[in-house]
Amino acid sequence: MRRLKKSLLLLSLISLTSFTFAQDSVINERTKILQNGKDLGFITVLTPIDVVKKQANKATIKIKGYRLENYPQMIVRDLKRKELYAEFKDEESSNKYFKTIKKHEDDYGEIWHEVEGVFTIDTKNIAKNPDKLKLKAKKTYEQSCSMCHHLPASNAYTVNQWPQQIESMMEQVTLEPKTKNLIIKYLQQHAADAK
Ligand code: HEC
Repeated sequence: MRRLKKSLLLLSLISLTSFTFAQDSVINERTKILQNGKDLGFITVLTPIDVVKKQANKATIKIKGYRLENYPQMIVRDLKRKELYAEFKDEESSNKYFKTIKKHEDDYGEIWHEVEGVFTIDTKNIAKNPDKLKLKAKKTYEQSCSMCHHLPASNAYTVNQWPQQIESMMEQVTLEPKTKNLIIKYLQQHAADAK
């Protein structure tokens, strides 16, 4: 009986994930990772997620990414493109929530873990309309970055170069943290090596 239950559960999990795989959901703003009221870190805006289970208030989501063996707190898109997906306050939480699928070595001999993690967030932090959010990101970029010079082409820099470019711009421009985060993610997702 237990066995049957287990395999049924497994089956429904599989069908759920395969169903949600195509969903292409994203996080709609920087979202705290909370566990029993404890603030463990955050997930960035525009991070792609799989929705495993969605209820009115809480949703179970899955994130796939990479982290450095020596600095597991940061989860990024992959070992070449360091678009930040999630950041934990300590190693322990990162290790608890993300499990390693495979290890990779980069050109500098650094060891990376390909990881996936499942946790609960507020349902309101999943973008209801990802296309609308992406359009908003594009518009925010166009409006904020074309006042003093031509709008730089998003593919003028790589995923890893953009955050530095934005930082150096901060001497000239003041942006709300929320706006800045949205622009960084937009540019990284449209950078020269984004695809
Ligand atoms: C208040 C005016 C102002 C705004 C707004 C502004 N910039 Fe600039 N930007 C400058 C100036 C001045 C330079 C040239 C001098 C420099 O590099 O600091 C520049 C240069 C640049 C460069 C070229 C740097 C290089 O090394 O060639 C990039 C890329 C850039 N800006 C991106 C942005 C982005 C992205 C935004 C939106 C977040 C933005 N800028 C908003 C004033 C601005």
